[in-house]
Parts: sequence; C-alpha cells; structure tokens
Amino acid sequence: MPIRTLEWQPDNPPNSLPGRLVFIDQTRLPAHLDRIRTADVETIWSAIRTLQIRGAPAIGIAAAYGVVCGVQAETVSRTAALVAAAETAADHLATSRPTAVNLFWALDRMRRVARAAAALDPREFRARMVREAQLIWDEDDAMCRAIGRHGAELLRDGQTVLTHCNAGGLATSAYGTALAPIYVAAEQGKRIKVYADETRPLFQGARLTAWELQQAGIEVTVICDNTAAWVMRQGLVDVVMVGADRIAANGDTANKIGTYGVACLSRAHGIPFYVLAPSSTFDLSLSSGAEIPIEERAAAEVSRPAGGGPVVPDGVAVYAPAFDVTPAEAITAIVSERGILRPPYVHSLRA
Ligand code: MRU
Repeated sequence: MPIRTLEWQPDNPPNSLPGRLVFIDQTRLPAHLDRIRTADVETIWSAIRTLQIRGAPAIGIAAAYGVVCGVQAETVSRTAALVAAAETAADHLATSRPTAVNLFWALDRMRRVARAAAALDPREFRARMVREAQLIWDEDDAMCRAIGRHGAELLRDGQTVLTHCNAGGLATSAYGTALAPIYVAAEQGKRIKVYADETRPLFQGARLTAWELQQAGIEVTVICDNTAAWVMRQGLVDVVMVGADRIAANGDTANKIGTYGVACLSRAHGIPFYVLAPSSTFDLSLSSGAEIPIEERAAAEVSRPAGGGPVVPDGVAVYAPAFDVTPAEAITAIVSERGILRPPYVHSLRA
C-alpha cells in the first residue's frame, strides 16, 4: 500500500555507490506518474524548490541524498575535499525552502556525520554518507508507521476524517503522517472515509491526497477549501487530521496555508483537531510559532492556477504565504512516533 515517493537506486547493486535518487515528480500527478532519476545536487535543489519533491519529511530525506550526490560528484579523492563537498551541498540545499524544519534537521545530521567521518578513507567516507541518508529514510518509515499505530487509536469504525494538503506517503518515506492512521485503521478493518480539502493554490489535497487514497482503496471526497465549514456544519466530519512542517516548543504548528482556518472551524464545531508529525518536525529551539519562518511563493501560483490562464487581473497584488501557524490552544493532540501528546505542549513535547 505505501508509496515510495523517493529512494536511492545504486548503479551497480549491491554496492550502494555510485547511485541516484529516484523520485516521483509530484507536480505531474494525478495525470502522470513520472519518476526522475538524478545524481545532481542542483536538480534535487530545484525539485524541492518547485515541489516536485514536497512534504516536510520527504524534503529532509531528499536533501540528505542531495548531500550524498555532492560527495559522489567530488572528483578530488582526499577525504578533506569530500567533507568540504558535503558542507557545500548542505549549505546550498538549505536555501531551497525555509519552513519545513526537517530540511535543516537532515542537513545538520549529514554535516555532523561528515565531520565525524573525516578520518575515514574516501571510499569508506562515501559509503558512510549514503548509509546515513538511508538511515534517515528507514527511521522516517519507522516513525510514520508508529504515528499510524498511535493515530489509529483515535479513529473508530465508520468515522470520517477531514484532512488538508497532503501528509501521506508522497510527503514522507512511504507511509505518511496524517494519512498513516487512516492506512492503519483500514488494515485493522475499520471503514474510514476522508474529505480532502483541495488545498489552494497548488492543490496538494485534490491532486495528491485524493490520488494516493484512491490507490489505497480508501473512500475519498475532494471539497473546495471553502466547503469545509459546511461539511462540518452538516455533521459529516468526526475528526480532523493534518501534518506539520514545524512545531515550536509550545506546540504552535506551521502547516500548509489554510490549516489554521480548518483548526478554527474544528473548534467552532466541536471536532477534534489532531496534528501528526515525527520528532524530526519538532523545533524545540523556537519558543513559539511566531519565530517560524513562513515561505512566500510566487504570485503566479495564485493568479494562474495549475499553470493555466489568469484568474486575477494583471497588475492586482497577490499575497501567497505557503504556510500558516495554528496556535497550540486550537490543537486537541499532537501525535508523534512516541505517542499521543496532550496540552500543555510545553511539558509534553519536552517529555
Ligand atoms: O508546500 P508543501 O506541499 O511542501 O506543504 C506540505 C505540508 O504542508 C504538509 O502538510 C507537511 O509538510 C507535512 S507532510 C507529512
């Protein structure tokens, strides 16, 4: 059932080097299921920037493999030069997108491993780097499965979940965060239905969440973002589950633009609002969501939806933040691989 949105493919198995990152081009879904193979740092940078690879955990994993590509491409065979190549690739990849902390978490981890491995010979050094990137993939897979198990405890047979954006297999190693409990609940024989917000302006809900749930045989209905209040009002939603791009120490959560609105609606209708994320998405160095950098995207993503004709007159201003911050008090619980965390999050996240 889970989708491998990105993975390392060795050129000469079983040796893991040299190899390439193979990833689904998420901008082409649902019309085309295209995969891109690359060993080029710049191609990975651009894939993250343009959302061919997207979703906080997937961005982190891709960046880790981007560092491997930087090391692999370095022709000078002194380990000191390879450590420098790792740092250069990491510095560059860190400029691709600002909000999802998984990117910086994974790059810092690759930098630390590179420095610690400086005494190895070049062949061992390269192998160590690819092993670390693979560990990041494997750990994400294990965390998502654990999130799925904990989150499934929150779902009863016959319930309907509303979700925003895509926090599924496409956005992670394989299993997803907000969608993981739905997959686990389905494996447990529970019948769960999903409303997927279309998620303007880039339609991750309509294009990606609907696609992957359909692949998994889970009943999904797409709604325009502005329909969420009305389906809640009609009693059609039991639970809201969303992912996260960065969670501050007090539980404030950055996620796809529109998430905050969904949280307000959940509160107004007495519906539990759950955030599901691995610990690689927690940024305990930030005391509150006010410190989370929010990416702004190009106006054209709003004014020319899906790359089509204009829906905004030329010359009219567009404001296009890619994320918003849901205050901790609007979040019923945060589900991580360690379990279900309840407020006050200042204590439960640290614990
Ligand atoms: O701009 P995107 O598509 O990368 O935004 C993705 C989200 O907001 C997801 O909900 C979040 O990264 C969690 S993915 C498990």
